[in-house]
Amino acid sequence: MSTDNLTAILYGINDLRLEQTEIEEPNESEVLLKIACVGICGSDVHYLENGRIGDYVVEQPMIIGHESSGTVIKLGSAVQNLKIGDRVAIEPGVPCRICVFCKRGRYNLCKDIKFCATPPVHGSLRRYYKHAADFCFKLPDNVSFEEGALLEPLSVGVHACKRANVGIGSSVLILGAGPIGLATLLAAKAMEAKLVVISDLIEYRLNIAKKLKADQTYIIDNIFKENENINNIHKLFNGQPDITIDTSGTESSIRLAIMDQYKDLFEKKDTWYIKTLLKSIFITFLKYFSYLIITKVDLLSIFLELDYGHQLPGRRKVWESGRGSA
Ligand SMILES: NC(=O)c1ccc[n+]([C@@H]2O[C@H](COP(=O)([O-])OP(=O)(O)OC[C@H]3O[C@@H](n4cnc5c(N)ncnc54)[C@H](O)[C@@H]3O)[C@@H](O)[C@H]2O)c1
Ligand SMILES: [Zn+2]
Ligand SMILES: [Zn+2]
Repeated sequence: MSTDNLTAILYGINDLRLEQTEIEEPNESEVLLKIACVGICGSDVHYLENGRIGDYVVEQPMIIGHESSGTVIKLGSAVQNLKIGDRVAIEPGVPCRICVFCKRGRYNLCKDIKFCATPPVHGSLRRYYKHAADFCFKLPDNVSFEEGALLEPLSVGVHACKRANVGIGSSVLILGAGPIGLATLLAAKAMEAKLVVISDLIEYRLNIAKKLKADQTYIIDNIFKENENINNIHKLFNGQPDITIDTSGTESSIRLAIMDQYKDLFEKKDTWYIKTLLKSIFITFLKYFSYLIITKVDLLSIFLELDYGHQLPGRRKVWESGRGSA
């Protein structure tokens, strides 16, 4: 095995260096991977440009990267689910497995989760990287390493659509056509949503959404007031959409998502209620790096979700069936 372990280490704002690091030895339940592909996530860019995301601050040099695939080259002594030579995608957040959230199967909410490239946990943008074997998922032969690395953002979209109960005949509004919005679009279409409209401020992002079979796109234009944008969107749906998913992470978009779903409430101008709702959602949003899923069933259906709740293994099947391979 080569000893070249070129690694991307973030030392501070706009200070990313390529250096050699030691190849780590897997413990009994881990595997060592020869990394093939690592996607650059918005979070890597945030750490590079701002040195932080909310409460997560890069205080020590940190290896970036978490959307990864590679080949198993060494097995810990207790590993049974994989063998040498397996091509895998990693699920980058490894939870504690013993807290109440883990026990209930909501391990994506585990407070002790170790998430690659989230300070102080190192990431996977290096030639060799070790990872918990049960958070590595074998790729079918027809799924490339590049697609394997994309399973992570795809899983975010699938989890969002599952939490929002997207299904046959759903009408869905997606606000934001970045990678997460596009992954959500792919998931919504694969789940047989009837009408998916996706919006953004930037035209070229919407052009990609069109290529990925968005039924309609809508450019959010500042010449329109918020209410006019909502009315224009409702015209595309011939009424309100069943489900609105914010994938932009911006305050104005989250406001629009809520107003879109609770137009009647806003028209009645129940201001105390609305202000409290917006304030609490925005504070929660700022505190936790996440995004909101809003459905019109009732106010309790406003979910705040992190990560993807074991969507990654199943997503291989989406690729396998060719339905997510756009
Ligand atoms: N839950 C998770 O596990 C998870 C994982 C990755 C990303 N995220 C979050 O998802 C969000 C999107 O991530 P991304 O990588 O796609 O980001 P991105 O910045 O690439 O894309 C966001 C898009 O939203 C658009 N936008 C901005 N304001 C808008 C508005 N008012 N209306 C409509 N569109 C607007 C931007 O032009 C951009 O194209 C971020 O908030 C990120 O933190 C969550
Ligand atoms: Zn990511
Ligand atoms: Zn836990």
